[in-house]
Amino acid sequence: MAVGTGEPEGTGATEPASSVALVGVSKSFGDVTAVDDLTLEVAAGEFMVLLGPSGCGKSTALRIVAGLEEPTSGTVRIGDRVVDEVEAKDRDVAMVFQNYALYPHLTVRRNIEFPLRSRGVPARDRSSMVAATARSLQLDDLLDRKPAQLSGGQRQRVALARALIRRPRVFLMDEPLSNLDARLRTEMRAELAELHSRLGVTVLYVTHDQVEAMTMGDRIAIMRGGVLQQVDTPQAVHDRPANAFVAAFVGSPPMNILPGRVGGEGGALSVEGGFIPLTPRAGRLLSDRGLREVTAGIRPEHLVVDQTGTLEATVSVAEFLGHELHLGCRLPGGRLVTVRVPGTGGSWRTGDTVRLAVVGDPHLFDPSDGARIDD
Ligand SMILES: Nc1ncnc2c1ncn2[C@@H]1O[C@H](COP(=O)(O)OP(=O)(O)O)[C@@H](O)[C@H]1O
Ligand SMILES: [Mg+2]
Repeated sequence: MAVGTGEPEGTGATEPASSVALVGVSKSFGDVTAVDDLTLEVAAGEFMVLLGPSGCGKSTALRIVAGLEEPTSGTVRIGDRVVDEVEAKDRDVAMVFQNYALYPHLTVRRNIEFPLRSRGVPARDRSSMVAATARSLQLDDLLDRKPAQLSGGQRQRVALARALIRRPRVFLMDEPLSNLDARLRTEMRAELAELHSRLGVTVLYVTHDQVEAMTMGDRIAIMRGGVLQQVDTPQAVHDRPANAFVAAFVGSPPMNILPGRVGGEGGALSVEGGFIPLTPRAGRLLSDRGLREVTAGIRPEHLVVDQTGTLEATVSVAEFLGHELHLGCRLPGGRLVTVRVPGTGGSWRTGDTVRLAVVGDPHLFDPSDGARIDD
């Protein structure tokens, strides 16, 4: 759904977008280190996604930027200003949560204009600002309804409108789409991305959903156990994951991760009763490091069913998705790997024996710490 074009009129002066920086930020709750020495810079106007599994410290990091949580150590900057001593309400950021926190007894109009009333903006200005913001989010026809009379997506848009009308320098969003059903979530992903590019605002967006991260982020910052793992564009994170954790977390279906032994015939990697041929370059990377064991990562699209394949497997499950097929294949050692077969061909059944070939070099990770092995 389109969200209109051009800058809405009458919404008051637009604040320039601000950069955001966390520098060496840590936060402990008793024994739990929720955020561990996090340094992350979000450029002005950038859409940065904080991605990671539940409990990895995403919300805590966001709340620290908002001023809702005080870090144990470290510094937060918004634009050029260090805001460590600045109260939440004076940081000029807007936060949108998973539960939209609308006032149930107020109409959509009153909900949207709430931040303006509390700032003492005169009634005439309020009304034109509400009209323009509502128009940009296609809420014009809903202004006199109460939240209970809205769908989940409409409520989410009202929450966005209420945040937008303040013209904050930075948007902080904590899993704002996770209460929506799958179709609406896809729609709102597109709307948020459009809104971001139209308004040029800075967004720090928290999610555990790698599809949201990949589709919306200019860059993605992946966290695990409070520790930042990698910050890069979706493409770079996908193509060159910094470690085996990122490799397995980003991508759908997930990357196959297999322990391997170095030094098979012709420099091949022995895995699960079969082998993966390596290019001379990959062989050199491994021999330079004197590694005997290595973790191999193979994306499902880089495995193909092929009579000349070097891995034997038994089809465990065939999932047909319309435009492609996902084959779950059991290797002799017992591991399950996923093979992504494009198109609608193929008629494999559970129990079929197949051979799998690996396309290109696998991703290689050091089994001791999971770090990527690369030039
Ligand atoms: N107020 C709190 N008191 C105690 N522990 C907390 C508090 N807030 C968060 N935590 C803990 O900090 C860790 C990170 O939490 P959180 O930032 O909410 O993770 P995420 O948003 O990635 O799911 C978790 O182990 C969580 O239990
Ligand atoms: Mg959270």
